[in-house]
Amino acid sequence: MGYPMESATPAEQQIPSPASAAGPALGTSQVVVPMPASRPPAPAAAEGAEFAPPANSGLHVAIISDGNGRWATSRGLPRSAGHRAGAETARRIIEAAPRLGIHTLTLFALSSANWKRPAAEVGGILRLLHEYLLSETEHCVQQGVRLSVIGRRDRVPSTLRQAIADSEAATAAGLRLHLRLAIDYSAREAIFHAACRFYKVTELSPESFSRVLAEVYRGGSTEVDLLIRTGGEQRLSDFLLWECAFAEFVFVPKAWPDFTVADLEAALEEFTHRERTRGALPDALAG
Ligand code: FPP
Repeated sequence: MGYPMESATPAEQQIPSPASAAGPALGTSQVVVPMPASRPPAPAAAEGAEFAPPANSGLHVAIISDGNGRWATSRGLPRSAGHRAGAETARRIIEAAPRLGIHTLTLFALSSANWKRPAAEVGGILRLLHEYLLSETEHCVQQGVRLSVIGRRDRVPSTLRQAIADSEAATAAGLRLHLRLAIDYSAREAIFHAACRFYKVTELSPESFSRVLAEVYRGGSTEVDLLIRTGGEQRLSDFLLWECAFAEFVFVPKAWPDFTVADLEAALEEFTHRERTRGALPDALAG
């Protein structure tokens, strides 16, 4: 299995492979990774570079970046063009996040359910993610961004798996932003795997379960403050089910490639007006 714990339990071994679940698996040979796309050199003092919030301050924002395909087809373009435009949006949002008070940003880049899509589309997304890691890692280092990938690693091409490990190692010291990319990710499956391991844990508590879940996910497991979904749909789609227990949701009708930093600011502004009681009474009534 692609999870970091020592050995899979029998229950875990029953997880179907993408091949049995959704047609042919994407073999490494099908995914040809081009040279990294060149990106303009970062300015010496990038916008917001002077702002360095201490670790663990700020918000955890998670984004379901939906609508790439519709964005492309509405323009007569192949769906892959939508994903490429979506990756550009991701760059802009990641760049802006720290100065907007975000300490953790989790982006849904590839759901485990996406294996049901045509192999060519999934292969294109995996190539794009690989390109992204190759072209952005150095930029992340310069910007103090720590990059982690959450999700399974055993089904992605080994070249991508290596690029993930390289990026995580290179960016490990970043303190301005923890960027978590969810790749081949299913919250339900992660919770199931954590439950399979949990019986070995002696201290039974929600906190210790969270810790086991964090090991299964890799990349930690912190509560989501704000969940944004673009593209007009209003559902969670198996994303961060445990971590979103008390998250505020903002749904944005725009497709992800059209999502701007101003849209992120608007979502954060809306978030500031939400009263987060976590089941308690609002301050005005609590007495
Ligand atoms: C959702 O659009 C997007 C995906 C399934 C995967 C690709 C995501 C990105 C490229 C954004 C993040 C990228 C990086 C590099 C972090 P969809 O195909 O489901 O759109 P549709 O609902 O219109 O079909």
